[in-house]
Amino acid sequence: MSSVSEEVTDRTVATKRTAAPIGALVDCGDVRTLDERTFREVHRAFLDNLVILIRGQELGIADLLAFGRRFGELTPAAPVHKGQKPRDYPELAVISNVVENGVAIGGLGDGEAVWHSDSCFNDVPPGASILYSVEIPPSGGDTGFSNMYLALETMPETLRKAIHGRSIKHDLRYTSGGQLRPGYTGFEDIRTTPGPKHPIVRTHPETGFDALYLGRRPHACVDGAAPAESEALLDALWAHAANPEFTWHHQWKLGDILVWDNRCAMHRRDAFDATCRRVMHRTQCRGTPVIPGTGDGAGKRHPRAVDGRQ
Ligand code: SIN
Repeated sequence: MSSVSEEVTDRTVATKRTAAPIGALVDCGDVRTLDERTFREVHRAFLDNLVILIRGQELGIADLLAFGRRFGELTPAAPVHKGQKPRDYPELAVISNVVENGVAIGGLGDGEAVWHSDSCFNDVPPGASILYSVEIPPSGGDTGFSNMYLALETMPETLRKAIHGRSIKHDLRYTSGGQLRPGYTGFEDIRTTPGPKHPIVRTHPETGFDALYLGRRPHACVDGAAPAESEALLDALWAHAANPEFTWHHQWKLGDILVWDNRCAMHRRDAFDATCRRVMHRTQCRGTPVIPGTGDGAGKRHPRAVDGRQ
């Protein structure tokens, strides 16, 4: 098992923004041996670009978890399919379509994963997610990201006013993989089922900028709104947030790591050929309670919400 070295190196970190208003390629060498100063630069690139791509890594599970821990305390990953064995590494989630002996080795299968931010149904949703490619299909399965600072910044005034001070009730009945948790039928009234309410505009605890925070579209509702008003508002918000102008899609290579910030970015994944194998290892960092934002801008804009396209 290798661990993170505290040795000081003279390594430089090169950060190259994507042509989209989100994401950057970070060239930092082997993530297993980043000294503290070098890691700070990687972390800065993460806060500045919402998603970072680091290529050419060869990581065992313990290496990935050690790297993930540098972004914050890791949280245990819930099993997503019945029959899955408890793991030697509780903080590892496997994202895969592979089935072994009749049991899926991971979650999410081979279908499209629609826009979402991870685990919004938790009282304290995660900060960073770290995803590493172990096996990839020859095509498909690209992962896309949308900039929620920019979505808020460019929001039409009527929509901005309509969400002012409001929260979304997030649905705890379904797992991240979309399965109903035990004890629910799926026909309950979302307004009265368990699940947290998070402000629709949140202030990022590290950058201080406000971002749109939507979570998952299915089964959500705007707190205190009648069902028809809630649906209309959520449809308008989601149509705006998924504007292709705010997005970047990554085509995976083996050994890639993506680190994304669930506090200010949403993500999705393309479907891929069900006969091909895709195995990804993911871990997530504990977040902090969601801070309500004002959404009025107050003259403060995240750099990728101003001049994101260079
Ligand atoms: C996810 O939605 O967290 C998984 C993304 C992926 O499989 O690329």
